[in-house]
Amino acid sequence: MTPVQHNPLWWQRRIIYQIYPRSFQDSTGNGTGDLRGVLSRLDHLQTLGVDAVWVSPIYPSPMADFGYDISDYRGVHELFGTMGDFDELLRETHNRGMKLLLDLVPNHTSDQHPWFQESRSSRDNPKRDWYLWHDGKEGGEPPNNWLSVFGGSAWEWDEATQQFYYHSFLKSQPDLNWRNPEVATAMFDVMRFWLDKGVDGFRVDAMWLMIKDDQFRDNPPNPDYKEGMNEDQKLKPIYSSDRPEVHDIVAQMRDVLDQYPERMMIGEIYLPVEEAVDYHGEDGQGVHLAFNNQLFFLPWEAKPLADAIDHYEKLLKPGDWPNWVLGNHDQPRIGSRVGREQARVAAMLLLTLRGTPTIYYGEEIGMRDVPIPKEEFQDPQGINMGKSRDPARTPMQWDDSDNAGFTTGTPWLRIAVDFPRVNVKQQQDDPASMLSLHQRLIRLRQQEPALHSGDYKTVQADGQVLAFLREAQGHASFLVVLNLGHKTAVFKPGAMSLKGTVAVATIPEREGIAVADVLDLAGDEGLLIRLD
Ligand code: NOJ
Repeated sequence: MTPVQHNPLWWQRRIIYQIYPRSFQDSTGNGTGDLRGVLSRLDHLQTLGVDAVWVSPIYPSPMADFGYDISDYRGVHELFGTMGDFDELLRETHNRGMKLLLDLVPNHTSDQHPWFQESRSSRDNPKRDWYLWHDGKEGGEPPNNWLSVFGGSAWEWDEATQQFYYHSFLKSQPDLNWRNPEVATAMFDVMRFWLDKGVDGFRVDAMWLMIKDDQFRDNPPNPDYKEGMNEDQKLKPIYSSDRPEVHDIVAQMRDVLDQYPERMMIGEIYLPVEEAVDYHGEDGQGVHLAFNNQLFFLPWEAKPLADAIDHYEKLLKPGDWPNWVLGNHDQPRIGSRVGREQARVAAMLLLTLRGTPTIYYGEEIGMRDVPIPKEEFQDPQGINMGKSRDPARTPMQWDDSDNAGFTTGTPWLRIAVDFPRVNVKQQQDDPASMLSLHQRLIRLRQQEPALHSGDYKTVQADGQVLAFLREAQGHASFLVVLNLGHKTAVFKPGAMSLKGTVAVATIPEREGIAVADVLDLAGDEGLLIRLD
């Protein structure tokens, strides 16, 4: 057993909570969440016990991709409030001992950003080279076969200047040219602008896409492409993503952060885990956390989960820090993927694994995807490709009053029909609720060195049962036993001698019970056991 790290850094020890600001709390009655709304709900975050908040983009934006198309990196969208509101939110989170992370979107801007407006104004504009402009092939074809994540060619023809520009996402989200040092300098200045204000770091959007092949070679076909996959997956994006030079950029971003005390960045990196961990960099020169998205895609079964956890643990170099996440604003909610009952087991898994957990707003009350009829789609991915992300972005369910307490107006997306039952107020005093389960798990994780900083070891992963140990020298050890099925199951400790007390359980009546040897698990049951 390795001794517990004496001074885990804040981003290793804390729990991150993602707020999608459009959907958290509306303070004005216009149907869209805003910063003063977030401010008014900080009590909830404190009661929950989370102590670092990541807010999805709040900047001025035409909202073609709901804020991920930025037209001014140094402002606040009027829909979300003012810079004064932001400063107050930052002050208040800090007063409460919490950290605040912003979303940084360095891969692309909005086509309404003054940089792009200049760039497209003429071929000899000084900012022409800030974006990726290219001549077409003969016959007016795009320069190469690269595809947009949101469908179709990633190249858009510009009639005025007779060239194509590149966009990984929407055509209104042109990609910046990170090979141009002026772009890098401008973006580092943006980082400094927010860091000078006191922001604690960034979640960095689309990090693995930031630099492209300098020869713009065609991507090869993907032999693993199957019907139902996104159209862009028809190709293997070896020339348009995860280029070796990206690591230099990440290291430079890290240098900017390191000029300030205790700041951090998390990279959004949708790559196989073997490549994603490389973004931690050599000698800690990369991201502090490379978002580990595996739980979005793994089958909900003991063996594949345990294999993935063990594999990830092995891939991490000394000094790399793990992290886990069950959902975000781009993925179906965990409660819809694994079901309401298993979502409780998933919460126990997330909050007992080794590494920083990120909770997506609403997970703590068991919010699920809300079916959104096609004619109400807001998300451009839904409108273009039918795969709407709206169901996972619906308003937070605070209480059983009109519109779940989210707004006095008409919500920008419809609210779950189950809100009179599934809401914060209803759950806060109910020990059997999802919210109470989260609170107990979070409290114990924060208190116990084995849980926030100790070692991880798989003990059993067969049939429905996943069991693992969390240990730290000189501190209490914990055994986590999760029944990933609806049927009863048995945990047999094998060589290990099992003696302890249930500290947290998905069925609260089990808490405080002494256990020894064989454990009978109810369906969908999770137990966190303090070992004697
Ligand atoms: C990833 C973000 O999470 C997603 O919401 C967005 O559409 C794309 N990047 C483009 O910025």
